[in-house]
Amino acid sequence: MAENRYISQSELERQKRIADTVYRENSGRDLTFFVETFGCQMNVRDSETIKGELVELGYAEAFSKEEADLILFNTCCVRDHAEKRLMGNIGALKELKDAKPGMIIGICGCMMQQEGMAKKLLKRFPHVSLIFGTNVLYRLPEMLQSVMNGERIAVTDRAEDAIAEGLPQLRDNPRSAFVNIMYGCNNFCSYCIVPYVRGRERSRTPKDIRDEVVSLVKSGITEITLLGQNVNSYGNDGTAQMTFAQLLTYVSDVPGLKRLRFMSSHPKDLNDDVMKAIAALPNVCHHVHLPVQSGNDEVLKKMNRRYTRERYLSIIRKLRETVPDIEFTTDIIVGFPGETEEAFLDTMSLVEEVGFAAAFTFAYSPRQGTVAAKSPDQIPEAVKKRRLQELNALQAKKTVENNQKYLGFEGEVLVEGCDMRGEDAMLYGKYQNFKMVYFPGDPSLMNRYVNVRVLKTNKNSLLGEMIDE
Ligand code: 5AD
Ligand code: SF4
Repeated sequence: MAENRYISQSELERQKRIADTVYRENSGRDLTFFVETFGCQMNVRDSETIKGELVELGYAEAFSKEEADLILFNTCCVRDHAEKRLMGNIGALKELKDAKPGMIIGICGCMMQQEGMAKKLLKRFPHVSLIFGTNVLYRLPEMLQSVMNGERIAVTDRAEDAIAEGLPQLRDNPRSAFVNIMYGCNNFCSYCIVPYVRGRERSRTPKDIRDEVVSLVKSGITEITLLGQNVNSYGNDGTAQMTFAQLLTYVSDVPGLKRLRFMSSHPKDLNDDVMKAIAALPNVCHHVHLPVQSGNDEVLKKMNRRYTRERYLSIIRKLRETVPDIEFTTDIIVGFPGETEEAFLDTMSLVEEVGFAAAFTFAYSPRQGTVAAKSPDQIPEAVKKRRLQELNALQAKKTVENNQKYLGFEGEVLVEGCDMRGEDAMLYGKYQNFKMVYFPGDPSLMNRYVNVRVLKTNKNSLLGEMIDE
């Protein structure tokens, strides 16, 4: 039922009343929080909601863990190492907590949705008192109240998988923002844990999405990235009544929105309508993050990706025909179970052929509970490592090649930062198609749009000069 897809208004109001009580209890105590975020943009966006809620609970943001009264780790479980690192991080906080007993230490994020994880952590770390998953952010007021009353809790309910609208957010980026269009994933790529921890796909309504974009643009944001595990299947659950291509059109005409981005795309669902929308809508950026994962059909099949190498290459060709300045970035896994040397070379040849602007490359890491983790033909770590090095070396070469195209290029850049290390301040920012450029300029131009001509290419970056204001 449609209404069950949302956390009810009355529940949100109940949380608000609790928040008001907690706020009063906290008033005058100058409490601060420190949230550390691991993983993808989805987690970055979740942390913005958590921080917004904490402000409503009377907390201010601290500059370091040492001075914070509440420390929260927002975790990721997509690849390994994260767990070991988290354990180290949490262990290291024991001394801080001993010195400051009133301090609250919490852990959240998708790792907490893994079977048995929350229980294990509560047992192992007595100084941790708050654990919650990705679907219960709206309950933070209630959870925090319990912890302040001396309880130790873990809330990782998955059953409801419902959307909570209208939660506050605290963002530190005044120019760009992420906007969730959907949550969860239905694809069950055989290596991936996301569908297990983040649940089934559910799309927000076009109106909720557009309203959020309108309010962000009103606050000064000019660049929006629409977020989902697979944005191309937006609305497939039938509730949104709109396809992703239609949503792009619907959102793109928000007055004042200069740049509209989206990620991630799944090659099996990126259809002609989306390609047409990218070509036709003036503020939709000419950049597609299109994870390929492998260049070999057999591996793609075992990964349950449901496209072939040829289908992937045809999307790239088609988009390049209609949008000549488009750039592609990708994700690639090497050492997937059963990946032969020939299969790996197919990935190498695809990378050679496509010429990605950038590639995020990973050695396959078995995730408990996924199909691929049970596969008997696991690849030795040393082989994975060697393949990863070879792939990275090839991509580094392709990045240099890609950069060459930009000598003399002129275009508008949104200034994101200022590198003060050299003699002169170097500003940096991106062209609409995601290429980054460095150029001398005054730090007061931060968050503004300026025109930049590329004069030189370095190994990893473009160097340019401003051509007018
Ligand atoms: N091992 C290695 N890489 C993985 N990814 C997802 N799951 C795994 C895994 N088990 C990578 C994919 C995905 C990106 C977000 O992380 O390339 O696109
Ligand atoms: Fe994981 Fe595949 Fe879903 Fe992406 S599309 S989140 S890789 S299952």
